[in-house]
Amino acid sequence: MSKNNLTQKFSNGTIITHWLTALLILLLFPMGKYMSDIEAAEKMGLIKVHVILGMLVFIMTIIRSWLFFKAPRPEDLKTGSKFNDKLAVWIHNAFYFLLFGISISGIGAMILGGYGSALIGGNPDLILSKGEIVPLKGHEIMSLIMMILLVMHVIGVVKHYILTKENTIKRIFW
Ligand code: HEM
Repeated sequence: MSKNNLTQKFSNGTIITHWLTALLILLLFPMGKYMSDIEAAEKMGLIKVHVILGMLVFIMTIIRSWLFFKAPRPEDLKTGSKFNDKLAVWIHNAFYFLLFGISISGIGAMILGGYGSALIGGNPDLILSKGEIVPLKGHEIMSLIMMILLVMHVIGVVKHYILTKENTIKRIFW
Protein backbone atom coordinates (compact mmCIF):
# COMPACT_ATOMS: atom_id res chain seq x y z
CA MET A 1 0.00 0.00 0.00
CA SER A 2 1.17 3.51 -0.85
CA LYS A 3 2.51 5.38 2.20
CA ASN A 4 2.97 8.78 0.56
CA ASN A 5 0.48 11.09 -1.10
CA LEU A 6 1.88 11.43 -4.65
CA THR A 7 -0.86 13.80 -5.79
CA GLN A 8 0.72 16.58 -3.71
CA LYS A 9 3.11 18.48 -5.97
CA PHE A 10 5.81 21.13 -5.73
CA SER A 11 4.99 24.56 -7.21
CA ASN A 12 5.52 25.17 -10.94
CA GLY A 13 8.41 27.53 -10.18
CA THR A 14 10.13 24.88 -8.05
CA ILE A 15 9.59 22.23 -10.74
CA ILE A 16 11.07 24.40 -13.52
CA THR A 17 14.08 25.59 -11.50
CA HIS A 18 14.74 22.05 -10.19
CA TRP A 19 15.04 20.48 -13.67
CA LEU A 20 16.83 23.41 -15.29
CA THR A 21 19.34 23.49 -12.44
CA ALA A 22 19.87 19.71 -12.72
CA LEU A 23 20.53 20.03 -16.46
CA LEU A 24 22.94 22.95 -16.02
CA ILE A 25 24.86 21.22 -13.21
CA LEU A 26 25.38 18.17 -15.42
CA LEU A 27 26.85 20.53 -18.03
CA LEU A 28 28.83 22.86 -15.73
CA PHE A 29 30.67 20.17 -13.76
CA PRO A 30 32.36 18.37 -16.69
CA MET A 31 32.89 21.73 -18.36
CA GLY A 32 34.71 23.08 -15.27
CA LYS A 33 36.86 19.94 -15.03
CA TYR A 34 37.74 20.18 -18.73
CA MET A 35 38.66 23.88 -18.44
CA SER A 36 40.90 23.33 -15.42
CA ASP A 37 43.30 21.27 -17.56
CA ILE A 38 43.80 23.67 -20.48
CA GLU A 39 45.79 26.85 -21.14
CA ALA A 40 44.16 30.21 -20.30
CA ALA A 41 44.36 31.45 -23.91
CA GLU A 42 42.39 28.43 -25.14
CA LYS A 43 39.53 28.63 -22.66
CA MET A 44 38.36 32.27 -22.74
CA GLY A 45 35.15 31.41 -24.64
CA LEU A 46 34.41 28.43 -22.41
CA ILE A 47 34.92 30.48 -19.24
CA LYS A 48 32.42 33.05 -20.54
CA VAL A 49 29.81 30.31 -21.14
CA HIS A 50 30.58 28.68 -17.75
CA VAL A 51 30.12 32.00 -15.93
CA ILE A 52 26.87 32.89 -17.73
CA LEU A 53 25.32 29.44 -17.12
CA GLY A 54 26.69 29.38 -13.55
CA MET A 55 25.10 32.77 -12.82
CA LEU A 56 21.83 31.42 -14.20
CA VAL A 57 22.06 28.57 -11.66
CA PHE A 58 22.79 31.14 -8.93
CA ILE A 59 19.71 33.23 -9.84
CA MET A 60 17.52 30.10 -9.98
CA THR A 61 18.86 29.00 -6.56
CA ILE A 62 17.86 32.36 -5.08
CA ILE A 63 14.37 32.00 -6.61
CA ARG A 64 14.08 28.37 -5.44
CA SER A 65 15.14 29.29 -1.90
CA TRP A 66 12.47 31.98 -1.83
CA LEU A 67 9.88 29.47 -3.13
CA PHE A 68 11.03 26.95 -0.48
CA PHE A 69 9.60 29.24 2.20
CA LYS A 70 6.79 30.92 0.25
CA ALA A 71 5.22 28.28 -2.04
CA PRO A 72 3.26 25.27 -0.74
CA ARG A 73 5.42 22.13 -0.56
CA PRO A 74 4.39 18.47 -0.31
CA GLU A 75 5.11 16.73 2.98
CA ASP A 76 8.52 15.08 3.36
CA LEU A 77 8.59 11.55 1.94
CA LYS A 78 8.27 8.57 4.27
CA THR A 79 10.64 5.79 3.24
CA GLY A 80 9.96 3.28 5.99
CA SER A 81 13.29 4.05 7.64
CA LYS A 82 13.76 6.99 10.01
CA PHE A 83 17.40 7.23 8.94
CA ASN A 84 16.53 7.40 5.22
CA ASP A 85 13.78 9.96 5.89
CA LYS A 86 16.34 12.21 7.57
CA LEU A 87 19.04 11.52 4.96
CA ALA A 88 16.73 12.57 2.11
CA VAL A 89 15.84 15.88 3.80
CA TRP A 90 19.50 16.47 4.69
CA ILE A 91 20.61 15.91 1.09
CA HIS A 92 17.87 18.18 -0.30
CA ASN A 93 18.86 20.98 2.08
CA ALA A 94 22.57 20.47 1.38
CA PHE A 95 21.93 21.17 -2.34
CA TYR A 96 20.74 24.67 -1.52
CA PHE A 97 23.78 25.46 0.66
CA LEU A 98 26.22 23.94 -1.84
CA LEU A 99 24.69 25.81 -4.79
CA PHE A 100 25.07 29.09 -2.88
CA GLY A 101 28.65 28.16 -1.90
CA ILE A 102 29.60 27.14 -5.44
CA SER A 103 28.12 30.29 -6.94
CA ILE A 104 29.72 32.66 -4.42
CA SER A 105 33.14 30.95 -4.65
CA GLY A 106 32.82 31.08 -8.48
CA ILE A 107 32.22 34.82 -8.32
CA GLY A 108 35.13 35.13 -5.84
CA ALA A 109 37.41 33.20 -8.20
CA MET A 110 36.30 35.42 -11.08
CA ILE A 111 37.21 38.60 -9.22
CA LEU A 112 40.33 37.48 -7.31
CA GLY A 113 41.69 35.23 -10.07
CA GLY A 114 41.74 37.97 -12.69
CA TYR A 115 39.11 36.28 -14.89
CA GLY A 116 36.94 39.41 -14.92
CA SER A 117 39.71 41.68 -16.20
CA ALA A 118 40.93 38.97 -18.59
CA LEU A 119 37.46 38.61 -20.14
CA ILE A 120 36.80 42.35 -20.31
CA GLY A 121 40.22 43.18 -21.79
CA GLY A 122 40.44 39.98 -23.86
CA ASN A 123 43.83 39.26 -22.26
CA PRO A 124 44.23 35.67 -20.93
CA ASP A 125 47.61 36.56 -19.31
CA LEU A 126 45.70 38.36 -16.55
CA ILE A 127 44.37 35.01 -15.20
CA LEU A 128 46.40 33.88 -12.17
CA SER A 129 47.65 30.33 -11.84
CA LYS A 130 45.17 27.87 -10.25
CA GLY A 131 47.14 27.51 -6.99
CA GLU A 132 46.99 31.27 -6.39
CA ILE A 133 43.18 31.48 -6.58
CA VAL A 134 41.96 30.51 -3.10
CA PRO A 135 38.16 30.52 -3.81
CA LEU A 136 38.73 28.13 -6.72
CA LYS A 137 39.73 25.38 -4.24
CA GLY A 138 36.39 25.81 -2.44
CA HIS A 139 34.58 25.88 -5.78
CA GLU A 140 36.25 22.59 -6.76
CA ILE A 141 35.59 20.81 -3.44
CA MET A 142 31.96 21.95 -3.13
CA SER A 143 31.26 20.99 -6.77
CA LEU A 144 32.64 17.51 -6.10
CA ILE A 145 30.59 17.08 -2.91
CA MET A 146 27.49 18.22 -4.81
CA MET A 147 28.06 15.66 -7.57
CA ILE A 148 28.39 12.90 -4.93
CA LEU A 149 25.11 14.03 -3.34
CA LEU A 150 23.51 14.15 -6.80
CA VAL A 151 24.38 10.48 -7.30
CA MET A 152 22.96 9.65 -3.83
CA HIS A 153 19.83 11.70 -4.65
CA VAL A 154 19.21 9.66 -7.84
CA ILE A 155 20.00 6.36 -6.07
CA GLY A 156 17.46 7.35 -3.38
CA VAL A 157 14.71 7.92 -5.98
CA VAL A 158 15.43 4.60 -7.75
CA LYS A 159 15.75 2.65 -4.48
CA HIS A 160 12.48 4.12 -3.18
CA TYR A 161 10.76 3.09 -6.41
CA ILE A 162 12.13 -0.47 -6.26
CA LEU A 163 11.13 -0.94 -2.62
CA THR A 164 7.71 0.76 -2.63
CA LYS A 165 6.73 1.07 -6.33
CA GLU A 166 6.05 4.75 -5.59
CA ASN A 167 7.09 7.05 -8.47
CA THR A 168 8.08 10.07 -6.39
CA ILE A 169 9.11 12.02 -9.52
CA LYS A 170 5.39 12.74 -9.98
CA ARG A 171 5.71 15.25 -7.12
CA ILE A 172 8.33 17.26 -9.02
CA PHE A 173 6.76 16.93 -12.49
CA TRP A 174 3.66 18.31 -14.18
C1 HEM B 1 26.34 25.06 -10.07
C2 HEM B 1 27.13 25.78 -10.76
C3 HEM B 1 28.57 25.48 -11.04
C4 HEM B 1 29.26 24.28 -11.11
C5 HEM B 1 28.70 22.88 -10.93
C6 HEM B 1 30.64 24.61 -11.39
C7 HEM B 1 31.67 23.68 -11.52
C8 HEM B 1 33.00 23.98 -11.74
C9 HEM B 1 34.08 23.02 -11.75
C10 HEM B 1 33.95 21.52 -11.51
C11 HEM B 1 35.23 23.70 -12.00
C12 HEM B 1 36.64 23.13 -12.09
C13 HEM B 1 37.29 23.20 -10.71
C14 HEM B 1 38.63 22.51 -10.74
O1 HEM B 1 38.66 21.28 -10.70
O2 HEM B 1 39.63 23.24 -10.78
C15 HEM B 1 34.89 25.11 -12.19
C16 HEM B 1 35.77 26.11 -12.52
C17 HEM B 1 35.45 27.46 -12.56
N1 HEM B 1 34.22 28.01 -12.30
FE1 HEM B 1 32.51 27.01 -11.92
N2 HEM B 1 30.77 25.97 -11.49
C18 HEM B 1 29.54 26.55 -11.26
C19 HEM B 1 29.22 27.89 -11.24
C20 HEM B 1 30.13 28.94 -11.43
C21 HEM B 1 29.85 30.37 -11.31
C22 HEM B 1 28.50 30.96 -10.91
C23 HEM B 1 31.00 31.03 -11.60
C24 HEM B 1 31.29 32.51 -11.63
C25 HEM B 1 30.41 33.47 -11.68
C26 HEM B 1 32.02 30.03 -11.88
C27 HEM B 1 33.33 30.31 -12.21
C28 HEM B 1 34.33 29.40 -12.40
C29 HEM B 1 35.69 29.74 -12.75
C30 HEM B 1 36.25 31.15 -12.96
C31 HEM B 1 36.39 28.52 -12.86
C32 HEM B 1 37.87 28.33 -13.23
C33 HEM B 1 38.00 28.04 -14.71
C34 HEM B 1 39.43 27.69 -15.07
O3 HEM B 1 40.28 28.57 -15.01
O4 HEM B 1 39.70 26.56 -15.43
N3 HEM B 1 31.47 28.77 -11.77
N4 HEM B 1 33.52 25.24 -12.00
